[in-house]
Amino acid sequence: MDYQEIIDRKRTIVNSPIHPLPADTLQDVIRLFHQRGSKSRDEFSKMKNAIPGGLQHNLGSSEPFSLTYSKTQGDKIYDIDGNEYVDYLLDGGPIILGHHFEPLDAEVVRLISEQGPAVGLTHENERRFAEEIIKLVPSVEMVRFVASGTEADTLAIRLARVYTRKKKIIKIAGNYHGWSDQLSLSINFPGTGPLDAEGIPKECYQHTIEVFQNDFAGLARAFEQNRDDIAAVLVEPSGGHAGTFLAHPDWNKTLRDLCDQNGSLLIFDEVVTGFRLALGCGEAYYGVRPDLTVFGKIISHGYAGAGAVGGPREIMRFCHPSSVDGHKAFVAGTMSANAVMVTAGYYALKFIQEYQAVEKAAAYADRLTQALNDLFATRKDLPFFAYNIQSIIHVETSCYNGISVVENPAARFSEVVERYTVLQTYALALMTQGILPLGDRFYCCLQHNEASMQKTLNAWEYVLSLIPAS
Ligand SMILES: Cc1ncc(COP(=O)(O)O)c(C=O)c1O
Repeated sequence: MDYQEIIDRKRTIVNSPIHPLPADTLQDVIRLFHQRGSKSRDEFSKMKNAIPGGLQHNLGSSEPFSLTYSKTQGDKIYDIDGNEYVDYLLDGGPIILGHHFEPLDAEVVRLISEQGPAVGLTHENERRFAEEIIKLVPSVEMVRFVASGTEADTLAIRLARVYTRKKKIIKIAGNYHGWSDQLSLSINFPGTGPLDAEGIPKECYQHTIEVFQNDFAGLARAFEQNRDDIAAVLVEPSGGHAGTFLAHPDWNKTLRDLCDQNGSLLIFDEVVTGFRLALGCGEAYYGVRPDLTVFGKIISHGYAGAGAVGGPREIMRFCHPSSVDGHKAFVAGTMSANAVMVTAGYYALKFIQEYQAVEKAAAYADRLTQALNDLFATRKDLPFFAYNIQSIIHVETSCYNGISVVENPAARFSEVVERYTVLQTYALALMTQGILPLGDRFYCCLQHNEASMQKTLNAWEYVLSLIPAS
């Protein structure tokens, strides 16, 4: 589906009524969820005593309680009540080979049994992993590892400032770059500014400029008004939240041109898109070269401590432990490049290539997207549709992300919440049928197969059956 059709169909949804589950139907769904999940529910209430909110994985949150898992295999997760789920959460993206990918786990187990997890010296796999990234990603000549996507984004903008000697960062509203102080603006929804990140003095944002996704005029204005002081533009190349706030086809190219004209760096945050959209990452998929690339969770395939920045030697050299030409971007971290992460990362990249995981996951997503659209077409009264960017599927039902809060923010924001709540109830109904989505997003992996697809379609058929005809 092309960009314009996606935008038009989102607009159609936003301009039509929401389709909440009737109150008694929703109660039935919640009852079913409770019946299936008594152990998860008990665990959740114990967790709440020890862990604020009972949850540390924001993406795995669900009402009335979050699931606790006990086992995984391939494209499946099993919760502690023994329920099986076709998993489309996939740890928020990284598990493209599928869970428990034995050849990968075997390499990590071998490392741990022979060498332990970390010692504070360099490990050969650190170099091998960096060389593999350099081989695959055209703009990358050197790599510096850190321990998370948040750290990698923080390093990338620091490096941009050291290299350009400029201060300001353009951040695109609704694009997520972790939870560091200066980047926690409009993290969940465009136009909400610091709403979701209390505890950060406003001075921390003084050099962060927000521009809306696909606001070409606003982007040009930001450069114009901060002439000679933009160090970098930081974006998810797909558009915010892995293409939820979808990038216009000319967006990345325009960013590239404006950065070139103004002596600023273009930073692609490929924490989710890297090695998922293409082996050459978003830059290969969109055909636009960034100056720096931020990598995160996917590079270690779920093993802890995943983060890296890559780019040309000329920029990356400032990550050096001592100053280069009198300058350096300080970076540290005990867990950076720990042996487990670099071993997992090196072999994950090998296996992603060997098993053609990028292509196969994307082919599954193409087929599932088509099948979902065929299913939705059977309900002429519902404007639902699905689109995918390679192996990332977005299913638009209540389309909270199609609302603009720019005009009349208060009124529109309550509509965003209302629409978001409805899609969460659909997700809950899917969970009762053994499907685990990430809200309206479905990450696909090498292990999804025809049986998973059929189960997914059956579950969506069930959801549609709960929505009264209009
Ligand atoms: C695009 C993007 N950037 C950065 C991050 C932050 O990464 P981490 O959670 O490893 O700090 C995420 C996490 O989901 C992400 O999706």
